Amino acid sequence: MCGIAGYTGKRKASEVVVDGLALLEYRGYDSAGIALFNGQGNLQITKKAGFVSHLKKAVYGKEGCCGIGHTRWATHGIANETNCHPHCHGKFCIVHNGIIENFATLKKSLQKKGKKFLSQTDTEVVAVLLDEFYKGDVLDALGKVAKLLKGSFAIAILCHDFCDRIYFLKKGSPLIVGVGQGENFVASDQLAFVHYTDNVVFLKDNEMGYADSNNVFVFDFCKNKKVLHVEKSNAKADNVAKPPKSFMHKEIFEIPKALRMTANDFFNDEYKKQKAIDIFSKNDKVIMIGCGTAYNACLVGKLVWEKVLHVSAEVDLASEFRYKNPLVSKGTLVVAVSQSGETADTLRATKLAKSKGADVVVITNVAHSSITKNADLVLHTKAGQEVAVAATKSYATQVLLFLCIACVLSKDSKAVKEIKKQIDDLPYLATKALLCDTVVAKKAKEFCKKQGTFFVGRGLDFPLAIEGSLKLKEISYMHSQGFAAGELKHGSIALVDKNVLVVGIITQKKVAEKTINALHEVSCRGAKVLVVTQFDKMANEAGCHDVIKLPGATDLLMPILAVIPLQLFAYHVSVARGINPDKPRNLAKSVTVE
Ligand code: F6R
Repeated sequence: MCGIAGYTGKRKASEVVVDGLALLEYRGYDSAGIALFNGQGNLQITKKAGFVSHLKKAVYGKEGCCGIGHTRWATHGIANETNCHPHCHGKFCIVHNGIIENFATLKKSLQKKGKKFLSQTDTEVVAVLLDEFYKGDVLDALGKVAKLLKGSFAIAILCHDFCDRIYFLKKGSPLIVGVGQGENFVASDQLAFVHYTDNVVFLKDNEMGYADSNNVFVFDFCKNKKVLHVEKSNAKADNVAKPPKSFMHKEIFEIPKALRMTANDFFNDEYKKQKAIDIFSKNDKVIMIGCGTAYNACLVGKLVWEKVLHVSAEVDLASEFRYKNPLVSKGTLVVAVSQSGETADTLRATKLAKSKGADVVVITNVAHSSITKNADLVLHTKAGQEVAVAATKSYATQVLLFLCIACVLSKDSKAVKEIKKQIDDLPYLATKALLCDTVVAKKAKEFCKKQGTFFVGRGLDFPLAIEGSLKLKEISYMHSQGFAAGELKHGSIALVDKNVLVVGIITQKKVAEKTINALHEVSCRGAKVLVVTQFDKMANEAGCHDVIKLPGATDLLMPILAVIPLQLFAYHVSVARGINPDKPRNLAKSVTVE
């Protein structure tokens, strides 16, 4: 969470940094700020609450070739200009991503020494400490401060004594240096400088250093110089061009392509397939972990593996797994799912699993992300950059990978042949599913004023109900909850009346009739019912209900196809309620704090 962008070179730093921040807004957009060295070596600070676009207006035309900026997702202190980064003290000015867990203790002891603080942030303590330790050697101060800090941090720093340098410090949160010709960049994500260079250095934990326009130097916290590994960036400029409607709508419509790319990439990689077989055969226990939508993908993954492989798997929220002394040892396979590969809880849970002797398979959308460093095998969802805060195409590809892995591990060659044929058809089926967009938009307009929505389903439709509900509340602010269709009557049906919408997901042949019963029960209590189904018969039997019809496919594929109308529904309700679906309040795409 929070995005850092820094530039040193010959261009106007204000423009490079602010444009970079705009590309990092997926990491948070509560406030944005910039520190610029103007031509005379004076530092100019500009801060604005709200989106980067507000900051852009404020810094338009400002001179200076070296600067650092920040787009914030508030953790400590409300989202106002005082708490907005950069934070400065004495000769230092810093921007920070992460959380300094011991900031309160450090702050108290600095206050006792008479140091004054202006903000409520944890970050400011680092600026004060740097100034305290600085005796003419910035690296010396950085190393000393880094050793005092608990928690995770990626920090970019300007020091008044070196007005063409950006110093940096990293532990636990991502920080990347872009290496240009006569110019260099520092950012939380390669995207920030995608228009300028594709040469990148992925900084490792416990590294610090500095960049000026011609050099980049990296050290450990004891000031030992490290060899620079310059790699080629995999970020693409065309993925981030602003689409006419919204990123979310565009990304839902990219699902067919994302599915094709993911399946091709997996099935054509003999090494990864063999490695998956080797790892799976070594282990007798499986635990799947993730957060939010990635967790919901695990819920589907568990059911898919049970059906295809006849193995049972546990599913855990990464944020619970890591704090409960999980029953993990040699012989346990942990499958960690994360679109960004940077989610703090999933990262730490994966590290914990590894330290307890587990084999770790990571499913992620971002090559080089931090989570890949702890993996025995990395499987890539090839969804492409996902900019909208809500996960859409990444979810579809995560579920697909669970299915692809099952194909490779299964010994039932007849069943596998059948599933693979269906996977080949998936992009076509997903394209057909997208045709419901207009109908869904109409329904969304009709239901957008409801007080709340329940999503219900059975079997593979149950995790889908949870995911549909998460998507709706996240971007439309309408209260909603996902239920196993049989559970509503055990209490929560008391909430059902004419102000409530119930979305019934009916894609699993065996349990379809049973879910229809649950829908009749809520319908006769006044609820409006919207049915999402692949069955013509169900559509007819639903009778008085509104229906969104899906293309027919095998039950196993339905969590991938049926999520499409649910994502579109959330999107259209959000728009109908006058909300920006790409940037819902209080959220950020990448949750790098615990
Ligand atoms: C919901 C959503 C979040 C993420 C969750 C995990 O639309 O996007 O629930 O799924 O924060 O993120 P990753 O997959 O990056 O670990």
